[in-house]
Amino acid sequence: MSTTPALSANSIIGKATPRIDGPLKTTGSADYSADFHFERMVHAVPLIASIANGRITRLDSSAAESMPGVLLVLHHGNIGPLYRTVPGDDNATNSEVRSPFEDEVVRHWGQHVAVVIAETLEQATAAAAAVHVEYEAETPDVNMKLGDYAGPRKSVSKRGDPDAAFASAPVKIDAVFGTPVETHNPIELHASVAVWDGDRVTLYETTQGVVNHRVVMAQVLGLPVENVRVITRFLGSGFGGKLFPWPHAAMTAVAARRLNRPVKLSVTRRMMFSCVGYRPRTQQHVKLGATKEGKLLALRHDYLNNTSMLDEFDEGCGEATPYLYSVANLEVTSAQPRRNMGAPMWFRGPGAVPGLYALEAGMNELADELRIDPVQLRLLNEPENDESNKNIPFSSRHLRECYEVGAKKFGWERRSPGVGSMRRDGKILGWGMAAASWVALRLPCAATVEFCADGRLCVRCGTQDIGTGTYTVFAQMVHEKTGVPLDRIDVILGDSNLPAGPTSGGSMVTGSVLDAIASGANNAIKRLQQVAASTEGSPLHGASLETISFTGGRLHRKDQASAEGAHFADILTTAKLARVSGEGKTVPSWEDPKAKGFSVHSFGAQFVEVEWDPEIARLRVSRVVSVIDGGRIINPKAAANQVMGAVVMGVGMGLLEETHYDGRTGQPINCNMADYLVPTCPDAPEIDVTFLDYPDPAMGEFGARGIAEIGLAGVAPAITAAVYHATGVRVRDLPVRIEDLLKSQVV
Ligand code: MOS
Repeated sequence: MSTTPALSANSIIGKATPRIDGPLKTTGSADYSADFHFERMVHAVPLIASIANGRITRLDSSAAESMPGVLLVLHHGNIGPLYRTVPGDDNATNSEVRSPFEDEVVRHWGQHVAVVIAETLEQATAAAAAVHVEYEAETPDVNMKLGDYAGPRKSVSKRGDPDAAFASAPVKIDAVFGTPVETHNPIELHASVAVWDGDRVTLYETTQGVVNHRVVMAQVLGLPVENVRVITRFLGSGFGGKLFPWPHAAMTAVAARRLNRPVKLSVTRRMMFSCVGYRPRTQQHVKLGATKEGKLLALRHDYLNNTSMLDEFDEGCGEATPYLYSVANLEVTSAQPRRNMGAPMWFRGPGAVPGLYALEAGMNELADELRIDPVQLRLLNEPENDESNKNIPFSSRHLRECYEVGAKKFGWERRSPGVGSMRRDGKILGWGMAAASWVALRLPCAATVEFCADGRLCVRCGTQDIGTGTYTVFAQMVHEKTGVPLDRIDVILGDSNLPAGPTSGGSMVTGSVLDAIASGANNAIKRLQQVAASTEGSPLHGASLETISFTGGRLHRKDQASAEGAHFADILTTAKLARVSGEGKTVPSWEDPKAKGFSVHSFGAQFVEVEWDPEIARLRVSRVVSVIDGGRIINPKAAANQVMGAVVMGVGMGLLEETHYDGRTGQPINCNMADYLVPTCPDAPEIDVTFLDYPDPAMGEFGARGIAEIGLAGVAPAITAAVYHATGVRVRDLPVRIEDLLKSQVV
């Protein structure tokens, strides 16, 4: 297989580069969606259903409408035409099938039933509380026991005869694992600001995909797509919750059109738990059959996840299962029981993260059953090729090295396997590990790079920075190609009018944008060379194009030092040009011959230490070593930051996060940051992140795969293995609760 060319020693690719947008953020001058203010702007506050199943029998907004400052109350009776998006249109992915206020049926607690628009936020809030709604309520189904499901299942992946192989296997694990509903809680709340100009609307949105958002909103509002513009300059993260539009965006746009005034709607933290998605509950039955030596013979992974009453949402827990291990007999099946809950949504590392929790927890139980070291068990079952897909080769898989490097950095060889057998400072230590994996793909992307007569360079792309460092990666790549200093590079993102770029999802942006920026820069340089050669008064006038070099922002003859040439700003000025630009495109993976016929994934290994203090029943994750094989790392600082954040999120998944629904009302009852627990600084362990940094030949010129979501994969099963090692308590339903730990016999 061909290898990706090495970069020069002084290349900025692979150098820890601070965020170019850091100063804007730390000085409060970065404009997030809810920061946009306009003349005559008014405020919208939604009213949400207080039942989870039933119908609205009466909605009386007269009292609200007569309150001070109230301008409009929208609901099912007066919202006017709103449309659904075209099924199967990949350019218009929506979060919910149903458009807002489409009917009077309530299918989950917190469904929007009305929205009040008033001069001030306070007036709108007060009036929303005064809208009188009567319901005919039925008992909601928010049962978290999905195992009762008896309907059909679909086979996601199958090879061999897993049932026969399991039945005859000498060693077996047969266990059900569960992951709870987890609610996306980015710091920035969802918000929408809609501004109309005639029949055109500009939407300032909290979206992870301005291009998709635009097409969805055009379809929902029934507008030509060119009449909609979506702007997202900065995002305070999203974790998947902001991938696709939610109903409040259409409500805001309709209100603004009706009133012919800009309208702002900011979703409250409480509503974040009911109106804008969550990771669904999963229940996963894992069966592993192995020889006494630990060779896998059979693998079954049958999972269930809840979906809403109208939406088809498959969490995809079997994503990594079919290719992670060598096993001749395997099947993954799935089904989605419906519940009276909102639409689920992709949540960091969707599918693979909860799926790998179950698979890797199962592997750790198998290692204990066999009395084999869990690293050894995995090495023993490492596949040569992707057995789930015609045995095609992996483009770049270095999982063995992840285990080896991780074990060494962690000090794994000092592990004594007995439960409660390791102690430090009066506390019991538990050590556990697990594998991680995540798909890699290059999405289509266009970008333009522009040289300006004022000596600045501008790069434009209709993608957005979710907070991961996308602005900085763009600047790095432009600097790499032009040598122009970072502080003279302007990165313009977050606008659907820009050349179409990818959605910030699936950890795919970096890998998808690099080639487009690089080829855009190459094309812009070519234009500059043409200008330099054809402009009278230019020192390169009349030179043939092959003889003109471009170094550090200067054009010069190949046989000259760059200082003897001319700066691009001078060339443009002499040519009386304001700017020249070049367009670039990324060829998506599915059109790239170098990616065809390869299984392309990132890999990783997580090693976790917990400290258990039985006297006060305190468990803490004290140390995590994370080794990631994510292709070439473009910015190790931003990349390590992604993995550290993901590891902390993994502590939340293992020990804290869970959305509780009240069985009587269907309400998510811990719908605030006091009751929905996420890890804070004292919960964060010492984290050691290592990247193997092997460029992936299937990932374009630069060989970068995604590195964000994979950091969460494998953390929770490594935690539950460590918990077992320390306490002897086997937790199979996350999060690990204090009630579970109190069963520990270890003293
Ligand atoms: Mo991520 S869940 O694809 O935003």
